[in-house]
Amino acid sequence: MANRKLIGILTWREGTKFSEPKYFRNLIRQGKELGVKVFLFSHRDVLVKQRRVRGYIPDKQGGWSSKWFGWPDVVIDRCRTRQPGYLSFRRQKHFLYANSVFSNKWNITDYLWEDETMRKWMPRTQIYSEKALHAYMEDFPIVYVKPGNGTGGRSVLKISRIKGGFLLVGRNKKVQHKTWQVTSRDALVERVNLWVDQEQIRKGYFMVQQGLDLALLPDRPSDTRLLIQKNQQGKWSITGLGVRVGVLKSATSNLHNGGKATDFISFMNNKFGEERGKEILHECHELAYYTVKKLEEKYGRMLEFGLDIGIDTSGHIWLIEVNPKPGRDIFLGMGKAELYKEAVRNPLAYAIWLAETENKTVARYDK
Ligand SMILES: Nc1ncnc2c1ncn2[C@@H]1O[C@H](COP(=O)(O)OP(=O)(O)O)[C@@H](O)[C@H]1O
Ligand SMILES: [Mg+2]
Repeated sequence: MANRKLIGILTWREGTKFSEPKYFRNLIRQGKELGVKVFLFSHRDVLVKQRRVRGYIPDKQGGWSSKWFGWPDVVIDRCRTRQPGYLSFRRQKHFLYANSVFSNKWNITDYLWEDETMRKWMPRTQIYSEKALHAYMEDFPIVYVKPGNGTGGRSVLKISRIKGGFLLVGRNKKVQHKTWQVTSRDALVERVNLWVDQEQIRKGYFMVQQGLDLALLPDRPSDTRLLIQKNQQGKWSITGLGVRVGVLKSATSNLHNGGKATDFISFMNNKFGEERGKEILHECHELAYYTVKKLEEKYGRMLEFGLDIGIDTSGHIWLIEVNPKPGRDIFLGMGKAELYKEAVRNPLAYAIWLAETENKTVARYDK
């Protein structure tokens, strides 16, 4: 089969060590089922002049072997860390990319906030400063302080009022649970300043954010992870969603912080009743389709998003975070193997559609 499509996955590697080996193995397996060749590479594996790429595929011993591939028809960017040289390589547009370079959390929040429809779903957010912290402590019963460039619930701090002072609960860089009680506003500010200094990642800034009361179960935060992906017809489609219930008295509900995945519909029905549950689901869908449309308008073609959606105790829906290179483990956590498989397959199906559409477009313009 000479004309099998070639799909490259841009990632980062150290030798043959990849950041998401299990996901990549599944991706390559799904590629076989779809009749395309899929390989992994890093931006240092590309010989631009020779139009060749050193690609990696699984070997029979459970490791990875490399060989030379031709120029991929489509490249999916799955590079989750900004390695030296990545951005400048990415900007050179050597390939037909399925997804554009995305921005940081603050820029995205700032941009979406400009839109009135979005605003009703967005917690108030500012760049962290002492002044902003004071203002937010005046305005909201719960306040979050978190890095603008963090992941996996790391360095996220929750501040709430308690009798005689304030309670601070968070996860540090090493994902260790941390908690303090302070009795005065000055002591609070001092403690949070220390947190911001100690938890800073690569000179990144912090954000201060309106805190949401997500304790739909007593003393446990819960939020919803929704996966929205492009499909084999090039259209956005919601693959699925699930609720993540965090550990007792935690500030975060990320699966990496010990959160457990559970079915959305039964969870919401239990909490809010069937009718309201349906409305909440419907609004989550509305939020997801609207958000990806807005994001593509600004950032260009995207492939998939994992949205962190907070549903507070009053049933209000909030967009907490948009992840442009999301995991799919929530479906495995819920025991939905088929949905997981679909979630792995979709980006490839979209990449095939993109390659074919682009081919036709080029052929038309060539005439
Ligand atoms: N404003 C907030 N109010 C309530 N909970 C929040 C808020 N911001 C974050 N969280 C909790 O912390 C988790 C991690 O925050 P998030 O912004 O998604 O950062 P990360 O990139 O580390 O996942 C969320 O999934 C949610 O459980
Ligand atoms: Mg998140």
